[in-house]
Amino acid sequence: MRDRIILVEAYEILDSRGNPTLRTKVTLENGITGIASVPSGASTGQNEAIELRDGDQTIFGGKGVLKAVKNVNQEIAPEILGMTPDCQAEIDRMMIELDGTSNKSNLGSNAILGVSMATAVTAAKSHNLPLYAYLGGVGGFRLPMPMMNIINGGEHADNSIDLQEFMIVPIGATTFKESIRFGAETFHALKKIFLKKGLSTGVGDEGGFAPNLKNNEEACEVIIEAIQNAGFIPGKDISIALDAAASSFFNDGSYNFLKSGLGEKKTSDMLEFYTRMVKKFPIVSIEDPLEENDWDGFSEITKELGNKVQIVGDDLFVTNTDFVKKGIHKKAANAVLIKLNQIGTVTETIATIQLCQKAGWNYIISHRSGETEDTFIADFSVAMAGGQIKTGSVSRGERIAKYNRLLEIEYELGKSAIFGS
Ligand code: PGA
Ligand code: ZN
Repeated sequence: MRDRIILVEAYEILDSRGNPTLRTKVTLENGITGIASVPSGASTGQNEAIELRDGDQTIFGGKGVLKAVKNVNQEIAPEILGMTPDCQAEIDRMMIELDGTSNKSNLGSNAILGVSMATAVTAAKSHNLPLYAYLGGVGGFRLPMPMMNIINGGEHADNSIDLQEFMIVPIGATTFKESIRFGAETFHALKKIFLKKGLSTGVGDEGGFAPNLKNNEEACEVIIEAIQNAGFIPGKDISIALDAAASSFFNDGSYNFLKSGLGEKKTSDMLEFYTRMVKKFPIVSIEDPLEENDWDGFSEITKELGNKVQIVGDDLFVTNTDFVKKGIHKKAANAVLIKLNQIGTVTETIATIQLCQKAGWNYIISHRSGETEDTFIADFSVAMAGGQIKTGSVSRGERIAKYNRLLEIEYELGKSAIFGS
């Protein structure tokens, strides 16, 4: 009986953008505790579970999360005291029921997710297992291929780049450790190029550089140059992945390349743009190429490019089984971006992953642009064995924390570790 939950508590901390978020702690009678911190997005999908913010403009510009904290301490905690942390599905189900809405707007997805994640962390500890082994069982041995976001644009940087993320994927690396080295060396080579061109080497929200470039092509061109300068072969050692986050520049029926001043584009222009980019550069993955309501457009681009490129739905699917089911039916993509806070519980996130596995779709475990030093997703990516993770550039502590945790896991697994998908 000593593994019963005796305390569930939350408090406000800061995320990597300096905005409040929740840290949640679960304590067992035997003294074991598990802690988790909740991330927060900027280019959020319309159908994401609702992050509860206080809205009091005099405190943290309305972004305080004290209501969510109170919901953990006063609403959720009494319901789960006395339960064991092994009952993840039961605890998650109870919180969903207690909230009573379809988008967790009552208690807040941030309140619910904090408890959900901290419950899993506590359970792992009480079984004396690392989190990846608790969540993944004997299947938890696959290290993910990182998609490293080395040029930031869109809503993640104050520069002239419209697409949100230009990532490098070290496809030629044979271990996770090697993939990190490939990424870091390319990141440094890229910095030298920007310095030489007299461009800014300041970084954006996810740790990638955020200079003012002419257009999206130039971002890919400098990345290719950096890959080569670092001694790698583009397309063989390192490829490129894009996250357009197209909803963030879609307005009144057209895609407005406002930041770069390239003007308005129709859906057909966008399709032509991606086809051109894929021809010109070694691109292996494109996320949210179109806005999140254009299911037919997604089906079209998947039909055109899906046999050679991974087409990923992020805002389109919001880690929600209902939307992923629709996507599978409509062949609207071939991969799903997985963000725990888009749906709000560990159990529901796993259900979405299981749906992907059943459909033979890829899935990528992902951070948010607003993060903390929490490393839950590193363990989660190994446990879910999908072989891909998106957790930013090789700069900024909150991104490095995940990479360092993955390096630790690979070290711990030793020869049993398998890398990539
Ligand atoms: P967000 O960005 O966390 O700001 O939503 C990440 C992404 O779009 O993948
Ligand atoms: Zn995205």
